[in-house]
Amino acid sequence: MTEFRSAEDEAAIALAARILRAGGLVAFPTETVYGLGAAADSPLAVAKIYAAKGRPSFNPLIAHVASLDAARREALLSDTALRLAEKFWPGPLTLVAPVSPQGGVCDLARAGLASVALRIPSHPRSLALLRAFGGPVAAPSANISGHVSPVTARHVEQELGGRIDLILDGGRSIAGLESTIVSFLTDEPMILRPGAITREALQNVIGGRLRGASGDSPITSPGMTASHYAPRAKLRLDALSLEPGEAGIDFAGAMRRGNARGVILDLSPTGDLTEAAANIYVFLRELDERGIDRAGVAPIPSEGLGEAIRDRLRRAAVR
Ligand code: TXA
Ligand code: MG
Repeated sequence: MTEFRSAEDEAAIALAARILRAGGLVAFPTETVYGLGAAADSPLAVAKIYAAKGRPSFNPLIAHVASLDAARREALLSDTALRLAEKFWPGPLTLVAPVSPQGGVCDLARAGLASVALRIPSHPRSLALLRAFGGPVAAPSANISGHVSPVTARHVEQELGGRIDLILDGGRSIAGLESTIVSFLTDEPMILRPGAITREALQNVIGGRLRGASGDSPITSPGMTASHYAPRAKLRLDALSLEPGEAGIDFAGAMRRGNARGVILDLSPTGDLTEAAANIYVFLRELDERGIDRAGVAPIPSEGLGEAIRDRLRRAAVR
């Protein structure tokens, strides 16, 4: 049985912390997507995450913490990593760094790697949960492995209802896309997954170009498989018109102007990439809910948040 509670309710947060301490699974809201949390120091609890998601255990999890001090207990953060942390935490940035000797995140959560991925989420109710629990919480996105990530509690229920102990409902995730992952395992930091913090924003803080994840780089996170974030519907990218039987995911009215007709959902009629990021997973799910099996997707600019949106669409289109 999966309990469903409002994340605004203090008693529900206390219950969630108790479930985590007892080795259970709690889905909770973050500003990016909903996470499926377990006590990161417990291999038994973490094993339940892999089982509930059907996730291969070579794919490590992100450990969520409540403070920079807690992050520094888990990983050896370089000066540059600390500059990014100070600028973007709490927020949708994940740092991958060498695990610290006193770190508590178990081997299974790290998939046996000598590194750990860390993030302090900014959603006030994720922070409330992390503080109430008092330790790192391992949490991948709260979906079946390979599916579209959930940005509402109802999406989580559709994905994992019956397989987990509790879902905390904290409303719709405002960013709508996962965190940006930056690795500090090589001399120069590298983007492993584009996400809700743009390359440009990171480069402004670092004062130089960041390598990785531009579509030309083979180096990504272990979990960045070609097919991912995929709806049942088959997608055709960079489409300006629709083929017979296709629905459309538009951007800035481009398809409409191209005279396409039929079911057309516009990610952002005004061409705002922040709005488009917040809508992308909702729209991919809506295709399936409407029983649509083929869709054309309008071109998305590649700058700013467009890099992450295009990355997710590319993976969603692979079969
Ligand atoms: O926004 C997010 O990051 C969400 C919310 C819940 O925080 N979480 C999320 O987790 O997207 P997940 O498991 O769906 O994606 C985590 C990614 C995977 O691609 C994994 O391979 C990578 O992080 N990762 C974790 N630990 C790593 C490590 N030590 N080295 C390289 N990549 C790592
Ligand atoms: Mg995921």
